[in-house]
Amino acid sequence: MVPRKKTFTALLMATALAIGVPAALAKEPSAPPAQAQKAFDNKIIKKIRADNMYNHIAKLAAEPRVAGSEAEWKAVQYIEDKFSSYGYETEIQPFTFENYYAPKVFVTANEQTLSSNSFTYTPNGVVTADLVYAGLGRASDVEGMDMGGKVALVQRGEISFAEKVLNAAKAGASAVIIFNNESGVINGTLGEANDNYVPAVALSQTDGEKLRSALAEGQTISVTVSVTDGRIVEETSHNVIAVKKPTQKNKATDKIVVVGAHHDSVPGAPGANDDASGVAASLELARVMANMPTDTEIRFVTFGAEELGLIGSYEYVDSLAQNERDRIVGMWQMDMVGSRDAGELVMFTVDGEKNIVTDLSASAGVRTGTPLTYGQEGRSDHVPFYEAGIPAALFIHNPVEPWYHTPDDSLDKISKEKLQETAEIVGAAVYHVARPDTPALERARVAPKPVDYEKIVGGLQ
Ligand code: BES
Ligand code: ZN
Repeated sequence: MVPRKKTFTALLMATALAIGVPAALAKEPSAPPAQAQKAFDNKIIKKIRADNMYNHIAKLAAEPRVAGSEAEWKAVQYIEDKFSSYGYETEIQPFTFENYYAPKVFVTANEQTLSSNSFTYTPNGVVTADLVYAGLGRASDVEGMDMGGKVALVQRGEISFAEKVLNAAKAGASAVIIFNNESGVINGTLGEANDNYVPAVALSQTDGEKLRSALAEGQTISVTVSVTDGRIVEETSHNVIAVKKPTQKNKATDKIVVVGAHHDSVPGAPGANDDASGVAASLELARVMANMPTDTEIRFVTFGAEELGLIGSYEYVDSLAQNERDRIVGMWQMDMVGSRDAGELVMFTVDGEKNIVTDLSASAGVRTGTPLTYGQEGRSDHVPFYEAGIPAALFIHNPVEPWYHTPDDSLDKISKEKLQETAEIVGAAVYHVARPDTPALERARVAPKPVDYEKIVGGLQ
């Protein structure tokens, strides 16, 4: 994840070209049109209050907000309540997903208990049988073996855990023990549920190697593999949608801009930065924009179940008619935008190419005094939008803080300056599209093909 570095001038030139400002003006940021543009920015950015964002984070990050949990639902209600208090039309969009709950596992070998781990999606089962070594568990390793209900001992490596389990099961094994090929514990997954799996557990390299040598010496080892209480449960999460229709009915465009963030967190993490920060910035921008005249529809959406695979944002994009997708000019995703311990603000697109979102925001960054770089990254809710053909970018501080996905992702690590800076840039860029004074959005539409920053700068020298 290495963002492309660009000089301030390069950014200025490229974004000036992108939004149709004559190149000559870009050299003179203080020329009148730039001043006028700044005056429009100020209508938004002078109203943004970092304290409001901080207070939202304090409320939201009091506990982890795992998708489907009561705490996530409380966050959803908090967010919806705030949006409606600012005067927005709101909707809570429910959706279901399958959640896997890890089983209890234990393993004994000749009655000695070994420290073990489960694999995600292992079936439950309690098996006591003799142990048999099956190498790496490849089809070629188990070929011709009849494990006849025995427990297969398999080493990690070369093929997936799931393939090892399926190969051993096919050869007749009633359970599979996979041991590590390096130090540390295996925290593995079988990827998805499959009726052909048999119970699968993980052992350390040390324990696995001991069992392997004992078998090689001809010892008989009776093992018990116990996997109980693992389950897949259908759960419900929600997206929160807040809509501001154009206020200028006579001048209204049919375009839509989307500002997004995710409100769920990983288990055990209060998710102050990931991503209560993005939610807080969205709420503050919604508050500031609520009474502004606009000619373009603005949608603020906070997504659920992002941490489980962008489930909420896929649901949201799936729920849009093609006609609505076509009307969305850009999606701004703010995810991890307030950590005092992270690097600088970067825009990431899924394909690493600039688009209207990065152009408008780079331009806003130049005006607000924070030139932005961009790079390539998925890993957040901008991905489903990109896949649907909608220009989208992730706003995040890079490199990320050491507290990412830990219990230490808490309020005390939040920087009001970082929140303010991000909200100003995204607010100015979004307002540039949404305000009625902008020339037809088509003129803000950028260069259809990627701009070569170096070439532009080179060509001007
Ligand atoms: N905020 C992160 C995304 C992120 C983290 C992007 C660090 C870039 C650098 C997000 O909430 C997350 O953790 N996403 C998941 C991926 C998702 C598809 C489950 C991840 O990156 O593991
Ligand atoms: Zn996140």
